[in-house]
Amino acid sequence: MKKFNVCVIGLGMIGEIHVKAFIGLKREGYVETIGVLTSSSAKADHYKNVYGCKAYTSLNEVARDNTIDVVVIATPHYLHHGQAMLFMEYGKHVIVEKPIAISILAAKEMVSKAKKKGVKLGVVFQHRYADDVKLLKKYIDEGVIGDIHYIQGEVMWWREELAYYLKDKVARSWRGMWSTEGGGVMINQAIHTIDLIQWFSRSVAEEVYGYIDNLMHPSINVEDIGIALIKFRGRVYASLTASLCTRPPSYQYTKIKIFGSKGFAELYNDELRILKSDTGIDIDKVSTSATETLRVEHELHERLLKDFLIALREDRDFPINGEEGLKSLEIVRALYISSTMKQPAKLPLHPQTIA
Ligand SMILES: NC(=O)c1ccc[n+]([C@@H]2O[C@H](COP(=O)([O-])OP(=O)(O)OC[C@H]3O[C@@H](n4cnc5c(N)ncnc54)[C@H](OP(=O)(O)O)[C@@H]3O)[C@@H](O)[C@H]2O)c1
Repeated sequence: MKKFNVCVIGLGMIGEIHVKAFIGLKREGYVETIGVLTSSSAKADHYKNVYGCKAYTSLNEVARDNTIDVVVIATPHYLHHGQAMLFMEYGKHVIVEKPIAISILAAKEMVSKAKKKGVKLGVVFQHRYADDVKLLKKYIDEGVIGDIHYIQGEVMWWREELAYYLKDKVARSWRGMWSTEGGGVMINQAIHTIDLIQWFSRSVAEEVYGYIDNLMHPSINVEDIGIALIKFRGRVYASLTASLCTRPPSYQYTKIKIFGSKGFAELYNDELRILKSDTGIDIDKVSTSATETLRVEHELHERLLKDFLIALREDRDFPINGEEGLKSLEIVRALYISSTMKQPAKLPLHPQTIA
């Protein structure tokens, strides 16, 4: 069985999660070598000496290394497009952290490049790999909830300004700015929930209306709260409230409720807490992790990366490809346009739209 040579670009918070996930996949026989590109010599030495990773010193060195099959891009949002284009040009399969890019035009270029070069482009929406999320999707696809009428999402989080946006030089270099983060809570934190909403809807978003504002983070100029109404094709409706202003922090949660012609389901922090259906399926659990902040699960990343490598081995599509990654970005950008224009934004958006 083919083992892959992989490389992770950027060892910030999430880059290290990817390396740890690949270390697990190396043990399982999916990965041969793990490369890292980092500006931190301490991290490069650590991964080299402790885990036998290969350290690279530039994007071009990674791109020109013909032995590398797969590159994971775990850098700030505004860098995703340029880096993905470079690696795909050199024939590498690319997995990019969410959001796929910060503009529709950039994301579409990435999708086209993957097609042109015959490589796979994947986007990291790891929550799709949580057990209960997969179970809920299976129930939806089997018709247990019936025709979906309405999906309600809530991403009620807290981000301390000093500890998150102003944490260090790296955080200050890209977080909280339209040109580099591409937006605030919607494009960064809530995009996972937007991806799940559009995936659960089994439809295509055609109109978005909403508001964004900044209520509690004066040092940044992007939104820390947003409210979106989304109309999907086939009379499926959704609403989403996302906030980084939730006090006290112990109250943070993410929730998705789905109402259909045969029943109702509630996902709470990736746990299927309630499912009531006319078909007789009846789930009713009380969550014990309800007050926890959602943590980044290294295990979910490992599942996603493994699925990507299996898709390569089997030469089949990876389910969260570039087109799929574009869908949530488009909803986010439509919300930003709607909030600015004070009217609903229709999808698909024009590729030049960067608002
Ligand atoms: N899937 C998830 O749940 C999840 C969770 C968190 C973040 N993310 C995504 O992962 C990506 C990175 O987020 P993060 O939280 O890991 O960010 P971060 O902690 O700020 O790390 C970003 C890293 O990118 C590298 N980098 C390369 N060029 C850079 C430049 N010009 N300016 C700043 N950094 C540069 C640096 O790596 P070195 O220090 O090694 O050089 C830096 O540490 C984003 O797309 C984010 O949305 C996803």
